[in-house]
Amino acid sequence: MDKLVITGGGALRGSLHVGGSKNTALPLMAAAVLADGTTKIHNIPVLKDVATFSNVIRVTGCKVTWEPDDDPDTPETITIDASGIHHFEAPYDLVKQMRASFYMLGALLGRGGKAKVSLPGGCAWGPRPVDLHIKGMEALGATVTEEGGYVIAEAPDGRLPGGRMRFEPVSVGATINVLLAAVTASGESVLENCAAEPDVVVFGQMLQAMGAQIDGLGTDTITVQGVDKLNPVEFTNCPDRIELGTYMIAAALATPPGATFRITGAEPEHLGPAFTDAFRQTGAPFRFVDGDGDWSTVEVEGVETIQPVSIETAPFPGFATDLQAQWTVLMTQADGPSTVRDTIYTDRFKHIPELRRLGADLKVEGDTVHVAGNTRTLSGAVVMSTDLRASVSLVLAGMMASGETDVLRIYHLDRGYERLEGKLQRAGIDVVRKEYDEAHAEGVAA
Ligand code: EPZ
Repeated sequence: MDKLVITGGGALRGSLHVGGSKNTALPLMAAAVLADGTTKIHNIPVLKDVATFSNVIRVTGCKVTWEPDDDPDTPETITIDASGIHHFEAPYDLVKQMRASFYMLGALLGRGGKAKVSLPGGCAWGPRPVDLHIKGMEALGATVTEEGGYVIAEAPDGRLPGGRMRFEPVSVGATINVLLAAVTASGESVLENCAAEPDVVVFGQMLQAMGAQIDGLGTDTITVQGVDKLNPVEFTNCPDRIELGTYMIAAALATPPGATFRITGAEPEHLGPAFTDAFRQTGAPFRFVDGDGDWSTVEVEGVETIQPVSIETAPFPGFATDLQAQWTVLMTQADGPSTVRDTIYTDRFKHIPELRRLGADLKVEGDTVHVAGNTRTLSGAVVMSTDLRASVSLVLAGMMASGETDVLRIYHLDRGYERLEGKLQRAGIDVVRKEYDEAHAEGVAA
């Protein structure tokens, strides 16, 4: 098992590069399954989740070529040849590793009118149901049964007719999954209360490039006219907005006052106004400048004092739930109290007890964390990662803590951040990856 050992107090200097979006790459890969041919997708991040999903897609008979090199800052291309698809299943042993594998339900229904997909497991902070995904497929005309932990879906006569579905609550995954099935239906589908996250919009743009007829991407109502077939394409994934937000928070935390830290390869529009407004209120100056090629560079200036800014998460263009743990760490260093409320996952606070081990003064009441602020004296400890975004919040806190912080179980981190320790080392942070024996590690609850 690997851990990161961070010696706090270092200053961030220079720059960090944002990789391709994880939460967009996965639906783009699922979309490639819909085409009878070879699709190429550029700017794919080198992450465990991408490797896992590649294996899920290979089970169907599709060929996936994915040979990342060792340089974390060069974008990678994945090639998916779906012409040989013959097995319309996604097995438990793979789906349990990564919830987004459930996208195969819509992809296999959309490609072949049938699917047998394992129900995803839960995750660190809650059940994370898929009822909206299933209701959506039924709304499009599929018959869906559950048997032995699998969802089995069939289109009458091999092709979905299409239909109307309202998502309650807004769901990124369900919007994506139902779109995967709707684009090749025989008729029209109207989807209401859809997610407008950039992940969904960029995914929808790839489907359009493949020949899908979709209106309303980025709004709450999406209308789809089904088409007979989709064509393979060459497409470029967008930068990861959560990685960008995470690095901006790191820069506000650890850039020396008066110095400027640069974050390259970014798409700042994908942060959404709620995050950029909140970041502006902290008093850490930032600006978007032209970057290399299609993407921008975000410059953040170090400041002496961070102002407390309370936030609450909401579907895009609201404040992303995937940034609430990182924001909480920033607020521990702010000049006063604040609150962080998660309205999407009201129990996504497994990182709080770990941050308290570092000396942060935090109190959870229902769906809200009360942050005392002014904890300039975080001190190093052994802490445990519980999920992807919680683990990166522990790394940020370890950067600010005096002494040494060991962040255990960083397989969670590796799912969503590409070789993070190498990137942080190059930006001036004292962090190393070490192996450890979980059975004898200090601080690991039995
Ligand atoms: C996606 O998860 C992201 N994952 C999550 O990021 C992100 O936190 C989440 O969207 C919200 O933005 C990927 O894109 C792979 P939802 P998803 O369906 O699609 C409820 C990360 O760290 N709901 O938008 O699973 C659900 O309980 C991950 O990268 C139902 O009730 O999230 C939640 O309260 C973590 N029934 C709300 O909707 C359903 O069938 C939003 O969840 C589906 C969801």
